[in-house]
Amino acid sequence: MKNKGKSLKVMALSLIVAAFMTGCNCNNPDSNMSVDNEVKDNAIETIMTRTSIRSFTDRAVSADTVEMLLRAGMAAPTAVNLQPWHFVVVNDRAKIDELGGNGRQSQMWHESPLVIVVCGNMEKAMEGVGQAFWVQDCSAATENILLAAHALGLGAVWTGCYPIEERVANISQVLGLPEHIVPLCAIVMGYPNESPQPKDKWKPENVSYNGFE
Ligand SMILES: Cc1cc2nc3c(=O)[nH]c(=O)nc-3n(C[C@H](O)[C@H](O)[C@H](O)COP(=O)(O)O)c2cc1C
Repeated sequence: MKNKGKSLKVMALSLIVAAFMTGCNCNNPDSNMSVDNEVKDNAIETIMTRTSIRSFTDRAVSADTVEMLLRAGMAAPTAVNLQPWHFVVVNDRAKIDELGGNGRQSQMWHESPLVIVVCGNMEKAMEGVGQAFWVQDCSAATENILLAAHALGLGAVWTGCYPIEERVANISQVLGLPEHIVPLCAIVMGYPNESPQPKDKWKPENVSYNGFE
């Protein structure tokens, strides 16, 4: 039953992606109206209800679902469309445990069946001062993966790595990353074993119009 629900969600997300890929440039705007509105409603709901999940059941994540998450990540915008990233999928129990270590937050790693490490690929990044755009590019991919995970019924948490040198060194060593592959963050994920309320972060005082007041 649970698997059926998940398959339906994977199918629904596939249809949404397919609708974007095949429908958005259609010549008949009327025929796209309902699809577009539905996609917008789903997108806003997904964005507003996502929250970090740090406890997981032992249910495995299927290869199809992993591919959908990666497709969502790679759909993110990047500066000059360079896509200067590399995604390391970690689904080996021993490797995830090693990444989690035995520190303050190790429990969530030990529960998680899937970690996606989002890395910048310095051989694909812009040259010169624009090189630092890789952080924004990979952050956009990370948020896409978090949102896709939520839409597919998974829970996930972004754990920061770069620019903390010690974390970069640790993840690089465990995963055997070459020097030009820099881990930005590790998304620790799985099917949720908790259901925290999304935080209300709306603060009008953080906004101004046409300048800083
Ligand atoms: C750059 C970055 C680094 C983060 N690092 C961690 C982390 O190491 N451990 C953790 O549990 N959460 C981490 N988080 C998740 C934040 O704690 C979380 O997003 C924030 O508390 C807001 O909660 P929400 O995601 O439920 O909206 C990180 C988030 C970002 C964007």
